[in-house]
This record gives sequence, C-alpha cells and structure tokens, in this order.
Amino acid sequence: MITEQAVVLSSEKLSEGIFSMWLETAVAGNAMPGQFAGLYPGREDTLLQRPISICEIDKKAGAIRLVYRVAGKGTDWLSRCASGDSFRILGPCGNGFDTKKAEGLSLLVGGGIGVPPMLELGKALADAGKEFKFVLGYRNSDMFLYEDFAKVSGEENILIATDDGSAGVHGTVVDAITSSGLKAGTVFACGPMPMLRALKGYASQAGIKAWISLEERMACGVGACLGCVCRTVNKDEHSMVNNARVCVEGPVFDAEDVDI
Ligand SMILES: Cc1cc2nc3c(=O)[nH]c(=O)nc-3n(C[C@H](O)[C@H](O)[C@H](O)COP(=O)(O)OP(=O)(O)OC[C@H]3O[C@@H](n4cnc5c(N)ncnc54)[C@H](O)[C@@H]3O)c2cc1C
Ligand code: FES
Repeated sequence: MITEQAVVLSSEKLSEGIFSMWLETAVAGNAMPGQFAGLYPGREDTLLQRPISICEIDKKAGAIRLVYRVAGKGTDWLSRCASGDSFRILGPCGNGFDTKKAEGLSLLVGGGIGVPPMLELGKALADAGKEFKFVLGYRNSDMFLYEDFAKVSGEENILIATDDGSAGVHGTVVDAITSSGLKAGTVFACGPMPMLRALKGYASQAGIKAWISLEERMACGVGACLGCVCRTVNKDEHSMVNNARVCVEGPVFDAEDVDI
C-alpha cells in the first residue's frame, strides 16, 4: 500500500450525479479487482480519505479508473477536478476479489454504485478463461457503464434488473437470477446492504459460495482506528470479539462469515 500524489488523466460525467475518473498512479501496479483507493480531497474541511472502489486497472499505463456518485463535500470536490489536477491517494486498500475462488459459472452481481468494481473482476475472469455473467441492478434504464460491461462479456452475458421495470427484469438482482434459471457455482457481489442480504440468503439456499463486498463508513482506511468494523459469525482469534475491519480484512468477505 502506498500514498502519493495521483494525477487526473480524465474526468467525465456518466449520468446524473455519477462521474468517472482515470488517475495516473503507482497504485495501479499492485491493484486487484475489488480493492479500493482512499482519496484525499484537496479541501481543508475534508481531512479523511474517501474510499472508492477500483473500477478498472491499466497496469501498462499505470492508471486506475474510479466511478463514483457525488454524495457530499469530498466527492463533489472530486467531480470538479480536471485533467492535470492532482491529489493525495492511498492504495491499493483491502483484500479484493480472489479470482481463484471462481468455480463453475460465476455471477458478478453489482447494484447501484456497487456496479463499478464488477467491471475489472469480469476482465480478470475473462483473462483467466473462467465462465461468468454479469448481473446488474439499476434504478431505471439509465444504466451507467453498460457499454463497458458489454465489451467485456457481450450483451448476451448480462442480466439486468431495474427498480422501475424500464429495462430487464422488473425487480431485484435475485429476481433476475432466479427467473433466468441459471445454475451458478460462485457469486461475487457489491452493492447496497439489502441486496447483499438477499443474495446471501439466495446463495445459502442454493448451496452456492458467495463473496460479498461490504461498505462501512471509514476513517483511517489502514486498520488503525476500528471505525469500519462489521460483525462476524466467528470470534477473531486475537481480540476474541466478533468483529472484522472492513478496510483490511475486507471489503470482500465470505458471505457465511459475516452477520449482515
Ligand atoms: C470500501 C468502499 C468502497 C466504496 N466504493 C465506492 C465507489 O466505487 N463509488 C462510490 O460512489 N462510492 C463508494 N463508496 C462510498 C464513498 O466512500 C462515500 O460516498 C464517500 O466517502 C462520501 O464522501 P463525501 O465527502 O462526498 O461525503 P460526506 O460529506 O463525507 O458524506 C455525505 C454522505 O455520504 C455518506 N457517506 C460517507 N461515507 C460513506 C461511506 N463510506 N459509505 C456510505 N456512505 C457514506 C454520509 O453518511 C453522508 O450521508 C465506497 C465506500 C467504501 C467503504
Ligand atoms: S477505517 Fe480505520 S480501521 Fe478501518
């Protein structure tokens, strides 16, 4: 994990409140799908890093792509950056998705602003010759990154669920999976907690291994403050508490190991 000044290569608006940014940074060198970067906005009133998942990694160019929703002061500041601007970055943080854990058909499930990290995971599974399909949940037919996903898997390997039924299945990502009749071997997921809970239940009933990426409010991002703990099923061997730090032991967990 390193900290350095990253340089903005490009920044664009993808959809209402959703932005994409390519950054030139040495963080790209060791980054894996599902890891995140801590960004320090250049404002005096936002001292803490803002964790954002890595959406794409270009190791040759030494660059990473981040796709984020403007939620408050820090992400608003980021959305105003332009090519050539620079700011401090920490990364790569967290454990990421382990592609070696993919068995049989993998379903790469993203919901809302949890969609971006599934893109790099899809590229990594394609490179490893593994079978996968994307399952993407959006509010409506304004499906940011859809074309990028289609380039990786082909449109025929994408299932869509929307809250309002304006595209794909009218309902949740679990509705999209069950109505497809697909028999998956592994689930990898990132998205809002209700989606992760539903997926955990689905995977457990179907006897499928599920790896889920959790999101918690974070302060340090390096395991020191315990601000980001989640509840685990088993006790930690050292501290003897049912906790794990999402920034270090996660953000990706075996769904069976966390109490969500
Ligand atoms: C591991 C991880 C990966 C993430 N990846 C992405 C991503 O790829 N794209 C993306 O858009 N967002 C992502 N987030 C959420 C992102 O970190 C927050 O939206 C961001 O920190 C808000 O900063 P801000 O200064 O704009 O907002 P603040 O002014 O700090 O807060 C504005 C609002 O955002 C909420 N918020 C702040 N931090 C978080 C947080 N960590 N999780 C959820 N809500 C928060 C606050 O409760 C408040 O309502 C991720 C969070 C984690 C923990
Ligand atoms: S954010 Fe400090 S321990 Fe995770």
